[in-house]
Amino acid sequence: MLILKKISEVRDWVRRKSSKGGQIGLVPTMGYLHEGHLSLARAARRENDFVIMSIFVNPLQFGANEDLDTYPRDLKRDSQLAAAAGVDAIFAPEVSEMYPYYPQLTTVNVTEITEVLCGAVRPGHFSGVATVVTKLFNIVQPDRAYFGQKDYQQCLVIKRMVADLNMPVEIKMVPIVREKDGLAMSSRNVYLSEEERRQALCLNEALRICRDLYDKGERSARKLLDAVQDRIRQEPLAAIDYAEICSAELLQEVDEIKENVVVALAVRIGSTRLIDNIVLEGDTGV
Ligand code: PAJ
Repeated sequence: MLILKKISEVRDWVRRKSSKGGQIGLVPTMGYLHEGHLSLARAARRENDFVIMSIFVNPLQFGANEDLDTYPRDLKRDSQLAAAAGVDAIFAPEVSEMYPYYPQLTTVNVTEITEVLCGAVRPGHFSGVATVVTKLFNIVQPDRAYFGQKDYQQCLVIKRMVADLNMPVEIKMVPIVREKDGLAMSSRNVYLSEEERRQALCLNEALRICRDLYDKGERSARKLLDAVQDRIRQEPLAAIDYAEICSAELLQEVDEIKENVVVALAVRIGSTRLIDNIVLEGDTGV
């Protein structure tokens, strides 16, 4: 696996590949790869001539009391997994390469849709994400970039940023990959003890209950959310950060479900914060 550490090396690599007319897919990650990340890589492999994955634990998107220092890292294992999923090159820069001036004076801020859900409880997080993703887009200049539905709000923020700023890249959202028992895959799942891991299933189960009620005709967001919260509250180690039903594009609160919505959850299991979501297709199909 070709591991590029310097921005100049990435630019050279991209120049060589695209001069032959090759299309480039970018998969931005923070590493410690699992099947969720690899499904993005496989989608990129199918739709592009060359695939580059970035592995960079971005300090700008972590809050002061978050897990920046303990975030799991294993570049050797990651490069083997990425190669098997069809990645051609990894961009794994040092912090000093990405941020020679830290903090930067220039940041990218998407408004409104970053002020709810994860944005409300993680101030500055989406500015950090939008800024590093913009830098990655400027460094790689990919034709397509791949993001997971697991971080639904993140996908929306990137899509809106690209549309608002006319960035020449197509954003692809890839479905959530789950463990056999339904837990959404996450690099942070390694923090869970055996008992926490068992109780963490309540996120997916609450979303399944919600979908069942919706399929049976329930359209009241309040009633659906009551069912979601009831299920999560059965687990003594679970504490809800938020459980909300929002319009799928603008993340506005919804009372009666008519259009497409996202049911979004953030739950602390012990000290580990997990997120999950489902999209419910509205009756109008909008
Ligand atoms: P990270 O958490 O490493 O995730 C990288 C990508 O993998 C994201 O697009 C995320 O949505 C996707 N992903 C994670 N778990 C998934 C799952 N179970 N199923 C499908 N996709 C999944 O998200 C980030 O890194 C960072 O914020 C980043 C975009 C790299 C910017 O720093």
